[in-house]
Amino acid sequence: MLSRPRGTRDMLPDEMEQRREIEARLRAKARTWGYREVSTPTFEELELFTIRSGEGIIDEMYVFEDKGGRSLALRPELTAPVLRTFVNEGRSLTKPIKWSYYADCYRYERPQKGRYRQFWQFGIELIGADSAMADAEVMMVADDLLRTTGVTFVMKIGHLSFMRTLLKDLPAEDQKKVRAFLDKRDTDAASVFLTESGRNDLAAPLQQLISARTLDEVFAVIGEIPEADRIRETFGILDSQGIQYEINPAIARGLDYYTGIVFECFAEGLGAENQILGGGAYRLAHLFGGEDTPSVGFAMGFDRVMVALGEHIWMPFQPQVSVIFTPEARERAIAVSRELRGSGIICSIDLMGRGFSAQMKSAGKIADFVIIIGDDEVKSGMATLKNMKGGEQQTLPLSDVISLLTTH
Ligand code: HAM
Repeated sequence: MLSRPRGTRDMLPDEMEQRREIEARLRAKARTWGYREVSTPTFEELELFTIRSGEGIIDEMYVFEDKGGRSLALRPELTAPVLRTFVNEGRSLTKPIKWSYYADCYRYERPQKGRYRQFWQFGIELIGADSAMADAEVMMVADDLLRTTGVTFVMKIGHLSFMRTLLKDLPAEDQKKVRAFLDKRDTDAASVFLTESGRNDLAAPLQQLISARTLDEVFAVIGEIPEADRIRETFGILDSQGIQYEINPAIARGLDYYTGIVFECFAEGLGAENQILGGGAYRLAHLFGGEDTPSVGFAMGFDRVMVALGEHIWMPFQPQVSVIFTPEARERAIAVSRELRGSGIICSIDLMGRGFSAQMKSAGKIADFVIIIGDDEVKSGMATLKNMKGGEQQTLPLSDVISLLTTH
């Protein structure tokens, strides 16, 4: 028996309906903030992803050569593709540009619960705005979108200048290593690394900075930095709107393009893969041949949100109807089922050549209501509606049956 590739999933109708419900809520909510959806190709030139992150990232990607000898990659994320689209197509648009996306991404990772090789991201990119308001808005959108799904989460916010200031005398490579340890939440390894590279003097301030939970505590370790006013203003806006967050200077972000504010959201009860959203301020457009453009955005790990929600998803009730019929009434039954569908009612009809009572039995397994079309109904032009939960039954004109089902 053939099976699906490692790290991928098949989704059956119950799960797909739940996903579509949450997706619809996210799209509608992002739209209220003025973010409009874009779509980019599933695969891109490999260079789009290596130009900022270097060749190292190739190990984590699905990379292939096409028949024309081009090096291509399945997208591991959408920020670089969306910024490429902005450089190619959007330069003359009025700024700020507010785009959203929902699409699948591919990463060659070791699969486990909540970590897949094909996964979906819902994200936004705010392109061309560089202000505390812009940073704060994107975090407020993140908060609003996660709330609309119903997931319980904590938002943690940092700023890359915190660590950059503390580590400014280290060679760039060493700074990167410390950030990589912090991204894996391995603060002890970061301290050990500093000690081993002869910078024991930084180990204690690093620990102090990591445990700082207020801006005053942060600036007590690193001093007043040029970005301080902007950072205070951003947090002030969030506070004024009652947005819940924690300051966490250890947030380093795995991707290399961030330049300013960075934030991550974590859900309860997901184990190791509990990061359900990540984002921040970054600059990419100039690397793709455009002007240097400040941007800020985030992506939500849609599959992780779905795992965190589990069974607790409210779904709108849509009654399932089966039309069952006697052999002589078949054509009338088909016409009735088409009329029901015309009114948006979900309706099935026997396709297995079953007799009347076998149709009723099988409808009992799937339907909330049954509509009986027998000889009497054909003669009278009426339809008999049976509620499969309560068992009650009434014969009515079809238009009344339709209004009962659509107002149910
Ligand atoms: P990221 O943190 O790499 O950021 O991914 C965003 C989210 O995607 C993560 O927080 C996580 O929930 C989900 N995710 C990542 N890898 C997997 C996986 N293997 N399986 C399931 N879910 C996963 C970005 O991708 C940036 N482009 C975010 C961004 C947008 N920054 C600025 N704009």
